[in-house]
Amino acid sequence: MTVGLAGTIIPRREAPHPMDSFAVISDVHGNLEALEAVLAEVDRLGVRRILSLGDVVGYGPDPEACLRLVQARCSHRLLGNHEHAVLNPGMAFEFNPSAQAALEWTRERLRQADLLPALEGLLPHHQEGEYLFVHGSARNALEEYLRETDPEGRSTFEAVAASIEEDFTSFRICFVGHNHKPFLATAEGFLHPHAERATFQVPPEEKLYVSVGSVGQPRDLDPRACFVVFEGTRVDYHRVPYPWTATAAKIRAAGLPGRLAERLGLGR
Ligand SMILES: [Fe+2]
Repeated sequence: MTVGLAGTIIPRREAPHPMDSFAVISDVHGNLEALEAVLAEVDRLGVRRILSLGDVVGYGPDPEACLRLVQARCSHRLLGNHEHAVLNPGMAFEFNPSAQAALEWTRERLRQADLLPALEGLLPHHQEGEYLFVHGSARNALEEYLRETDPEGRSTFEAVAASIEEDFTSFRICFVGHNHKPFLATAEGFLHPHAERATFQVPPEEKLYVSVGSVGQPRDLDPRACFVVFEGTRVDYHRVPYPWTATAAKIRAAGLPGRLAERLGLGR
């Protein structure tokens, strides 16, 4: 908003995004209401290109519709650990009981819809020049979590900074999903978007992780869907409200674990 000459408030008109900008989405997790809200916002912002970092399915009640929509709208799609587990029943990672139950339910739904072939051949990483896109981390693209603290609550900053120093040799910016939390990690520290600051300028030589947050199951205590728009020198975090109670009702109606419905409203 800007204040006009006579003191009236003039809504700021957002300029269309340039052609070299792109949106990055991740961890839709079968949440069609959240995905549709995010795609509408991407369109409203004038962003033409979208990349998906994986975990389009798992947990949520609409894996088929989400998969079809991501196929139709995203220029590039990565393999997430949930897609990997759907394709490899004997090789499931350590999923908790509700994730495991949702995984088996999702596999059957995709099998009946003949959508399992749509997951085959996907990779958990993709590079375009100095940008690397992964599901998990630069060291383990499929299953490692980029975390700010380890499971015991200790800061992981030194390990993350070491990874940026040692691993970021053939790329400069690594976009990650999987952890469901929006933040930037540089060799100097972690930066968090919040209501007053959701835009970050990226200096030309800076190496950093861009953790894009989750569309369909945010875990940063903000239930709104999250995604990133990147413009080469700028990272914009966007939050989009969506009717999560409708998604939660579908989860319960499908017989999926109730915890998966409750957490949508809590954002964790
Ligand atoms: Fe994941």
